[in-house]
Amino acid sequence: MPAHTAYRFPHAQLLGVAGLNRLDAEDLLDTAESHLIAARDGRAKTDVLRGAAVLTAFFEPSTRTRVSFELAAKRLGADALNIATGSASAEAKGERLADTLATLDAMRPDVLVIRHAAAGAARFAAARVKAAVVNAGDGCHEHPTQALLDAFALRRRIGSLEGKTVAICGDVARSRVARSNLVLLQLLGARVRLLAPQPWLPVDAAVWGAEPFTDRSAALAGAHAVMALRIQTERTEGASLASTADYAAAYRIDRDALAACDRDVVVMHPGPANRGVEVTSDVLDDPDLSIAGAQVEAGVAVRMAVLAAVARNAREAGR
Ligand code: NCD
Repeated sequence: MPAHTAYRFPHAQLLGVAGLNRLDAEDLLDTAESHLIAARDGRAKTDVLRGAAVLTAFFEPSTRTRVSFELAAKRLGADALNIATGSASAEAKGERLADTLATLDAMRPDVLVIRHAAAGAARFAAARVKAAVVNAGDGCHEHPTQALLDAFALRRRIGSLEGKTVAICGDVARSRVARSNLVLLQLLGARVRLLAPQPWLPVDAAVWGAEPFTDRSAALAGAHAVMALRIQTERTEGASLASTADYAAAYRIDRDALAACDRDVVVMHPGPANRGVEVTSDVLDDPDLSIAGAQVEAGVAVRMAVLAAVARNAREAGR
């Protein structure tokens, strides 16, 4: 029996991957595995969170993340409510985030799932509400459940990540997906490379333990997995591209570029994808290469594991 089977994820919130240890991550991934198998067997629904309320507050656009959190909450038997934001909410009337959070907390939800354009928004929320807070993406800071579902889908496809090389490619510096992934992948034993034009590489890549590259074939040489990232146009602020075509020619993940990788290479994408820019359609849609669909399926199972764990821990802590 693996040593970690008796270990329980101990946190009453999930604000980032930073701060988790390997056992935390493996406990969530192993629990997610049992949810995925149950769902495939037609036993998706449980009553682990019956009577609990899970609020999802997305202050930035989202399809797959929001829906998968809601579905995860419902499959756990919780009442899942999505809070209107933007023009349909008090936010449009100028309410401050702190006031919105206080209003939501007064309704005593068990879990608050938050996505916001400001880095640090989830931590800001966690300091102000009694509910267990889960970060569904805060600016270009972290997106922990995305990294967990990526690791989950990758592990299912290629087995242990120990010693494997993963290349994260594209708009790395502005990507919360990259930031959470580079921490989690290394926690699980993988080696991480980052590929981007120089201005889009984080200046502190080496501090994070990742190897930065500006040359695509060098970055992809021997890689076991390649993660393509969307250009974060909502965050480029004056640093937009002179030529999308030139960028694609140098950085896009296509069949020619993948020739440098391990022969069993797997391609990943968190979605939404800009086909032809960071990845070509023939790669993204090839089931022998791409696990993009498996990543989406994994999202529900992983978020079930996260919601159940933080709600349990918050309840036990008497919050
Ligand atoms: C990512 C996000 O929102 O950070 N999408 C997602 O959650 N599936 C990546 C992106 O928007 O590019």
